[in-house]
Amino acid sequence: VLITAGPTQEPIDPVRYVTNRSSGKMGYALAETAVEAGAQVTLVSGPVNIKPPASCNLVPVETAQEMYDAVMHHVRGTDVYIGTAAVADYSPSKVESSKIKKKGNNEALVLKMKENQDILKTVSDMKDRPYMVGFAAETEDLLKNARKKLEKKKIDLIIANDVSDKSIGFDSEENEVTLITRSEELLFDRDSKKKISKKILEFISNNS
Ligand code: C5P
Repeated sequence: VLITAGPTQEPIDPVRYVTNRSSGKMGYALAETAVEAGAQVTLVSGPVNIKPPASCNLVPVETAQEMYDAVMHHVRGTDVYIGTAAVADYSPSKVESSKIKKKGNNEALVLKMKENQDILKTVSDMKDRPYMVGFAAETEDLLKNARKKLEKKKIDLIIANDVSDKSIGFDSEENEVTLITRSEELLFDRDSKKKISKKILEFISNNS
């Protein structure tokens, strides 16, 4: 099982970066549960503050490009791919080699960003690809947007979670998710990320 987790950090200059609020907790809970179930787990993780499960192959990365490279390196031969990482959609087009100085003239600083490659979609397009699972963290039209991503990214299962409710999802201990495939929709009520991850892996092992 190959799992991506956490945020990515996209450098602006030597001391600054753009990132997001992902804590990595859902991905780490899934990795731990998969290890307990006897799977060989590779966990490609952005910078987080959690201890990785023992007996998993941890591959630490920082940027979206590094995550992409690590996934491409490890994906061959995996049965299941679970993308929980909040991969930055955009990165600064140019990383300044020295710290950007404040001009002090009230002018806006314009940061040009370039779009990153979609890792999930790239793996889905591969021949002999694993069973593909993605996450859709949404603040509005949760199920509609998640279903669109299932189709667009050509994956097998998308797990939708509402990140507008601060008590679940990003950086929280709990989650409430809806599993969406082409033929079913299944709600897992609010529970700890560990319990939710057990149910998700059960679903995957019954359907992959
Ligand atoms: O399109 P969006 O970022 O909302 O899709 C979320 C899903 O796509 C997650 O599973 C995430 O890990 C994956 N993703 C990716 N590469 C990107 C952006 C998102 O694999 N560049």
